[in-house]
Amino acid sequence: MQQPKTGLEGITAADTRLSHIDGEAGELTIAGFPLEEIASNASFEEMVYLLWFDHPPTISELENLSSQLRARRVLPPIIHQLLQEAAERRTPPMDALRMAASALTLLVEDPNDQDDASLTAVGAFPTIVAAYERYCNGLEAVEPDLSLGHVANYLWMLHGTLPTDDQVRALETYLNTVCDHGLNASTFTARTIISTNSDMISAVTGAIGALKGPAHGGAPGPALDMVFEIGTPENAEPYIRQKLERGERLMGFGHRVYKVRDPRADVLAETASHFFAPDDPLFNLAQHVEQVALDLLEEFKPGRRLQTNVEFYTALVLHGIGLKTDLFTPTFAVARVAGWTAHAREQLETGRLIRPMSGYVGEFGRRWVPLTER
Ligand code: ACO
Repeated sequence: MQQPKTGLEGITAADTRLSHIDGEAGELTIAGFPLEEIASNASFEEMVYLLWFDHPPTISELENLSSQLRARRVLPPIIHQLLQEAAERRTPPMDALRMAASALTLLVEDPNDQDDASLTAVGAFPTIVAAYERYCNGLEAVEPDLSLGHVANYLWMLHGTLPTDDQVRALETYLNTVCDHGLNASTFTARTIISTNSDMISAVTGAIGALKGPAHGGAPGPALDMVFEIGTPENAEPYIRQKLERGERLMGFGHRVYKVRDPRADVLAETASHFFAPDDPLFNLAQHVEQVALDLLEEFKPGRRLQTNVEFYTALVLHGIGLKTDLFTPTFAVARVAGWTAHAREQLETGRLIRPMSGYVGEFGRRWVPLTER
């Protein structure tokens, strides 16, 4: 039997109706819809409904889901205390989100009620992220506004001011673009956890841990930092060349599945362009950096087919909306929790315990030597 490549590359580990990636054509389908068709048209609540129930909601179905999510926006004092304590210790935001997500068990009466737990996770994540951001900046948390939609309320809780329609639409498009993406590492984590008949809060808490690494969701902050550090178009070539000579990876480039340009990068590039004038220095610099990076990746890594991934333009969209870099990965989690919960529900309905094999590369037959004789 042929051994799988390390990292389970190319292995199908679950069937799903949630999303499909064609890495050669650069196409992403979400629940049957091409990404380009749905990302900038649907509200985030509609996406959540679509992922959970496999059809776009009617007006009454949407109202019902939205009101159930709204009811879960308010966090109990004990989670606020946890976040305040974490902020005093300067805990990284994704660790704070992971700790608070775990505490959401306090809000779920029956751990086996996957509907309640899914709603709680999706409904409460924005409040956790926004409250933590404000505590880190020495501010009071802003109470959720129950009259606002999911995305508008997130921006309201972050900034304490009502967002513009453009900001809401752009963030909604971003969340829809990244809400689900096949069996990525964090989704696989969520499915593996729930496949043991564990609970939904455990599944999303584990998934946060998988998302935070720079090989997955941790890249957009460093991608934007790189553009800022480069500073001028002339500096791009020597800066990136030096990085690649040192053997470093360029954040926002390369993907395990996409061997052509990540279609999400195009959707987000278009969204980002609304926040920047055609001659905006940052947007122009970013586009120049992207081109130089692609040229140099081809020079240093010929044949690896390293292209721009979603994270590069994520950074520009979120920056354009007014989010600080430390919010980029937690905001990714605010989106992807829709996919994690959808996959976990699907795994419970149709899946089996996920339990792959490991290839043993150690010795056999060793003899135990007592401590005093070693
Ligand atoms: N910069 C420079 N070289 C790279 C990059 C990069 N961004 N990505 C891959 N390579 C190189 C590797 O060094 C390797 O070179 P080698 O053949 O000389 O050893 C070759 O390309 C193949 O790389 P792999 O590690 O096999 O690719 P893998 O599929 O494991 O990695 C990953 C994919 C982790 C995304 C990688 O491209 C990377 O680290 N990118 C930068 C981080 C990033 O942007 N992460 C966000 C991903 S998108 C998401 O998860 C939402």
